Amino acid sequence: MKLLQTVAETQSYIQLLKQNGYKVGFVPTMGALHQGHMSLLKEARRENDIVICSIFVNPIQFNNPDDLLKYPRTLEADLVLLSVAGCDAVFAPSAWEMYPEPDTTIYDFGMLDKVMEGRFRPGHFNGVAIAVRRLLEITMADVAYFGEKDFQQLAVIRKMVEMFSLPVRIVSCPIVRESDGLAMSSRNHRLLPEERAVASLLHFALQKGASHYTSFTPAKLQHMIAADINQNPLFSVEYVEIVDMDTLVPVPDWAESKHIIICLAAFLGQVRLIDNIVLQGG
Ligand code: PAJ
Repeated sequence: MKLLQTVAETQSYIQLLKQNGYKVGFVPTMGALHQGHMSLLKEARRENDIVICSIFVNPIQFNNPDDLLKYPRTLEADLVLLSVAGCDAVFAPSAWEMYPEPDTTIYDFGMLDKVMEGRFRPGHFNGVAIAVRRLLEITMADVAYFGEKDFQQLAVIRKMVEMFSLPVRIVSCPIVRESDGLAMSSRNHRLLPEERAVASLLHFALQKGASHYTSFTPAKLQHMIAADINQNPLFSVEYVEIVDMDTLVPVPDWAESKHIIICLAAFLGQVRLIDNIVLQGG
């Protein structure tokens, strides 16, 4: 497996492959890899001739400096995992290499980046879009893989690809969970043992809500799920939203949309977790 740290070496490596007609699959990550990331890699491995993964903790998508500081960095272990999984090359640039000059682009994604995560993490998706667009340009990927755990991120990336007619196909991959149901996340390692012990409540509250959802209005269900989670004093719900999967606009009633998802964010102690469940038409 090749370790690439500069844009120049990455581009010349990939250019040569593409000239030879190889199809390039790309998995962008911020490292601290787990089985969620590896599921994307496996899918990329299955569908492409060459698989490239990036590891870059993108400073401009962190609206909380403490979160950026505490973000786990485990490059050595990540490289072992990727190599074993058959990744061909890893692009792990410095911040300077990614942004030799600050990229001040302001994207307009309409509602997509204003609701849910966008409301609580202003500027986050703009930073994600800047990084992903640059990574797609550098890697010249034919196909790029993203997890449904970050459902709103997926919607924003799809929108960006459409807005700028980027020559890449976006593939989404299902959420990978721990055996107790907690969605895998690099942030899970920061949970204290007593917090980790109750963390699957997020998933169970979503499942419980989804099981009889048509018996309630979306507004009622939203409150029930939030209350269920907040009952545990270690949790503090930031939002529970029931939205159309394409527009991310809240649905007033079940007949309003064919594709509905519940998304939530909650603090468990100091750690902010997100999760979601598709209600209909996934
Ligand atoms: P990161 O959080 O490292 O996630 C990289 C990719 O792995 C994302 O597409 C994310 O949705 C996916 N992923 C994370 N946990 C997952 C799980 N439990 N199951 C399935 N997929 C999962 O998302 C980012 O990095 C960054 O915003 C990035 C796109 C790299 C831009 O900086």
